[in-house]
Amino acid sequence: MRFENVARLDGKVALITGAAGGMGALAAHLFAQQGASVMVADFNVEGAAAVAAEILSEGGHASSVGGDVSTSADCRAMVDATVGAFGGLNILYNNAGIMLADDDNPVTTDEDVWDRTMDVNLKGVFLCCKFGIPAMLASGGGSIINVASFVAHMGAATPQIAYTATKGGVLSMTREIAAIYARQGIRCNALCPGPVGTPLLAQLWSDPARKARRVVHIPMGRWAEAEELARAALFLASDDSSFMTGQSLLVDGGIVSAYTTPE
Ligand code: NAI
Repeated sequence: MRFENVARLDGKVALITGAAGGMGALAAHLFAQQGASVMVADFNVEGAAAVAAEILSEGGHASSVGGDVSTSADCRAMVDATVGAFGGLNILYNNAGIMLADDDNPVTTDEDVWDRTMDVNLKGVFLCCKFGIPAMLASGGGSIINVASFVAHMGAATPQIAYTATKGGVLSMTREIAAIYARQGIRCNALCPGPVGTPLLAQLWSDPARKARRVVHIPMGRWAEAEELARAALFLASDDSSFMTGQSLLVDGGIVSAYTTPE
């Protein structure tokens, strides 16, 4: 039979950053349900431990590790903890990211907002790849999923300049990593969500006017559910996307394809 009905991540080991909450936590549950052993990594140590405990109570395999992705030693420790707990690394899901409230246009945005956003969103992906890729090569290859955003593809007049710049960088880095490692069994793709109903966005768009101004540009007329992104991440993590690398998977309700939206 050409299509086997098995759990799609059976025997795989996944490291997911920023997995204490939001999309990362849901992906941790889904990946574990699909047979992966999951390392739940986050600088929210208690939150990460709670997600791992939930997965264990559901009969899955998981462990947790604390750490800040903007710190080299922490990224190394996350990878070491994963290999130590589960014997290898096949899926590196670089999901941790921040969007700071004071991130605005180039004139008003402070340098420290720019620097912190770069450190977490862009350098964090670089550092996790720096330490994760050798572990993946030693494990026979696998899949890297870097979370970018639809703003890596288009500009917004209601800006978050630092955030947008980091996501463009994540997309460029994704393509290059894909090209470098394509013959060594590592695929690397970017997941580009549109607006998703997670704490990150709820906090930023608590102002109804600000929310309405954005939702009007989404052809589907709503935010994504975090589950919809977890399913897209599963596609990229699994062999279902085995001939796909260096791509940007937009899961955006049609934003990037549309010039106008229905009334
Ligand atoms: P969230 O804020 O709900 O969760 C992010 C998680 O990352 C939290 O558990 C947080 O503790 C952790 N984290 C933050 N900084 C960290 C650091 N330095 N080291 C380790 N962990 C850290 O965010 P959400 O919405 O689930 O976002 C996940 C990813 O998706 C991010 O990269 C975000 O930029 C991206 N994204 C989100 C969109 C949205 O509308 N929510 C849209 C497009 C992209």
